[in-house]
Amino acid sequence: MKFSRILGTGSYLPARVMTNADLESIVDTTDAWIRERTGIESRHLVADDETCCDLAEVASWRALESAGLRPSDIDLILVATTTPDQFFPSTACLLQQRLDIHGCPAFDLQAVCAGFVYAMDVADKYIRTGAAKHVLVVGSETFSRVLDWSDRATCVLFGDGAGAVVIGAADEPGIISTHIHADGTYKDLLQIPGGHGNGRPDAAFVEMRGNEVFRFAVTTLGRIVDETLEANGMTRDDIDWLIPHQANIRIIQATARKLDLPMDRVVVTVQEHGNTSSASIPLALDQAVRDGRVKRGETILMEAFGGGFTWGSVLAKY
Ligand code: COA
Repeated sequence: MKFSRILGTGSYLPARVMTNADLESIVDTTDAWIRERTGIESRHLVADDETCCDLAEVASWRALESAGLRPSDIDLILVATTTPDQFFPSTACLLQQRLDIHGCPAFDLQAVCAGFVYAMDVADKYIRTGAAKHVLVVGSETFSRVLDWSDRATCVLFGDGAGAVVIGAADEPGIISTHIHADGTYKDLLQIPGGHGNGRPDAAFVEMRGNEVFRFAVTTLGRIVDETLEANGMTRDDIDWLIPHQANIRIIQATARKLDLPMDRVVVTVQEHGNTSSASIPLALDQAVRDGRVKRGETILMEAFGGGFTWGSVLAKY
């Protein structure tokens, strides 16, 4: 078996919903401003006693169920997260314990909003080399805990949630290709600077130069679309669905225009979820699979852009 394919999907959103109207009472903003600039209408936030691992666990059980597999079938766990519950053990190890899996490798992967795409790249390579047969890939985030709730330029943008997929070995793709990149030159444009090593241990909140990030994201995602199609000798017509990272409706629309795809072939959840970072693509994929939009055999292009900068794509036959 030379390829990997998506066997099942799952997701979970915490119960608490914060609308734009709710935000109006927290910072100097308006529902109209947020909708117009971002497309976001509401976002889900974790309860005080809810953890990143809690979200990951529910999404994982759902993905396992949809794949028709048991936890003991999993031989690699990858969790993409920027908001782990603790420095260590990794969220992947915490999740492994919850799922009662013993012995298989489990590790976190941190590429911010491109984390899920990075994790899919790793999972695909493990499977193609025969090092794993069934990989649980999770994107789980509690970004509400790393927001400065007095900074209107960032706190309106993010939400919490988790998505998961189970990938397994297959004779045919499945995953057609993955492409991941990073350029640390842009480290200051989007960051949580806090850390014990840089003299800013308390600066544990998102800082962003939104306008510059926006421009770079649109250009870079356009390039990754070209790179992905060219690498596979494909054209825009070969893509059935775009499942983008959900940061801003205007960034999503720009990528859809690049692909010449009408918006009804683009899975959009940003209005209800805000930016859930590494969880956003598996959340959107799961929603579109479960509501019957994305069907087996269709070609899906997933792409993401995040702090670092990091960016990448996964082209797959679902
Ligand atoms: N409500 C009302 N006004 C706000 C606001 C809010 N929530 N946030 C910022 N503003 C104000 C700014 O203070 C600024 O006011 P000024 O002109 O008086 O200084 C004005 O709106 C315009 O700010 P600007 O940053 O130029 O707006 P923008 O059109 O670039 O939109 C973003 C801001 C953040 C929505 C946009 O830049 C963006 O989406 N960037 C990408 C962010 C992103 O996706 N990051 C994650 C990548 S994974």
